[in-house]
Amino acid sequence: MTVRKKTIGIGLLGLGTVGTGVFNILKSQAAQIEKKTGVRLEIRKICVRSLKKHRAARASSKVITTRVDDILNDPAVDILVELIGGIHPAKEILLKAFAAGKHVVTANKALLAEEGKVIFLQAARHSRSLGFEASVCGGIPIIQAIREGLASNEISHFLGIVNGTCNSILSAMTQGSVNFETALRQAQEKGYAESDSRLDVDGIDSAHKLAVLARLAFRTEVDFRVIPVEGIRSLSALDIQYAKELGYVIKLLAIGKKTNSGLDLRVHPTMLPTDHPLANVWGVYNAVFLHADQAGDMLFYGRGAGMLPTASAVVGDMIEIAKKIHDGVSSESVFYEPPQKRKVLPIGETVSKYYLRFQVADKPGVLGRIAQTLGRNGISILSVHQKESHPTQSVPVVILTYQARESHLRAALRMIDAQKEVKEKTVVIRVEK
Ligand code: NDP
Ligand code: HSE
Repeated sequence: MTVRKKTIGIGLLGLGTVGTGVFNILKSQAAQIEKKTGVRLEIRKICVRSLKKHRAARASSKVITTRVDDILNDPAVDILVELIGGIHPAKEILLKAFAAGKHVVTANKALLAEEGKVIFLQAARHSRSLGFEASVCGGIPIIQAIREGLASNEISHFLGIVNGTCNSILSAMTQGSVNFETALRQAQEKGYAESDSRLDVDGIDSAHKLAVLARLAFRTEVDFRVIPVEGIRSLSALDIQYAKELGYVIKLLAIGKKTNSGLDLRVHPTMLPTDHPLANVWGVYNAVFLHADQAGDMLFYGRGAGMLPTASAVVGDMIEIAKKIHDGVSSESVFYEPPQKRKVLPIGETVSKYYLRFQVADKPGVLGRIAQTLGRNGISILSVHQKESHPTQSVPVVILTYQARESHLRAALRMIDAQKEVKEKTVVIRVEK
């Protein structure tokens, strides 16, 4: 006979932005959760780095510890909730937790992207559940939607705005409210940014989320290290302005496409026409636009970072696992599938439309030579825009292209940028429909 467990013990690892949100939700919603699900979630232990830190979460000193073993060795802890971030020691702790018979919930996309294979395998080996809804797009239940709601579908491609910090920065730059540095500082103050904000700004956090999404959407192991990544650090206000004049906005996108020659996975600033479903996603909001063969096009939208949206996803996973424990349902990890590896296309093999900004001497024949070099490399021009003319200074010339292979574009740009009339390295921004 199955023993129904009504109170599920939680070990909370980390009491920062997300941990505090989880603590507060459990405190304020415990009765509601119990009423809805029949289970009570009770925090048994909270592990942090420092006991001296002043905390917004009013946790009893009896439950707070700095020793992870206090959670791992506590038989009253059923679910370990990992909210410390980073690869080490999070990886080792999760491996030990599964071996100790604990289920795990994590928001740690870095860990799943870089060490997912070993983590998923360990969960499967010990028949434990691993919840990771909060790891991608904060409060949006995209993981559950792909895993369950769309289980009968083949997903052919998706485009996602998956980093709230970068989207806040780009929104501020596009709307002209504040500059890059101020927007980043505001995102940090609101708890959106990673503890190392270079992960956000340089596109790495988006690539982590892309790897997690691609694993589920395309049911494949993804070698995170080969995903081409560009962040938003070098984007200039000038290109954001020109994009606007041409009827586009620039967003940092995580792109996943299944192609005949491999998976096209990449993260980079991307120009989207203003009528694109992702073009009006502003601030900390995230969105994923995907195509599923049975269900068709769909758009997921919501807050991608921050204390409560992220904690809401964490608690959702905890409830899901707690219900399984309560119902005595076997918790073998349904997240793990035998690794099937697909090639990730190198950036040179990808195909896109491009925005090119050449900074050139305003002299006769310059534009002709650029056009000729592009043509010789198989790149067709969609439109040309000379921004202003100046007899002595260099002037910006913007060209939009039709679709071309990136290696062909790069070959053309090597020749063009070597011309003496071309005064700066050409700016390239990829364009999506
Ligand atoms: P914070 O930096 O705000 O909090 C981290 C917490 O972990 C702190 O309480 C810290 O302790 C504790 N901690 C760090 N290392 C250890 C350790 N070795 N042992 C014990 N405790 C430790 O991070 P966030 O809450 O912002 O992020 C947590 C996770 O959630 C990360 O994986 C992040 O990527 C992810 N995430 C964050 C989102 C957000 O909006 N912030 C959204 C989605 C996912 P102390 O307080 O003593 O320093
Ligand atoms: N730093 C991340 C972001 C947190 O800004 O989107 C949410 O994963």
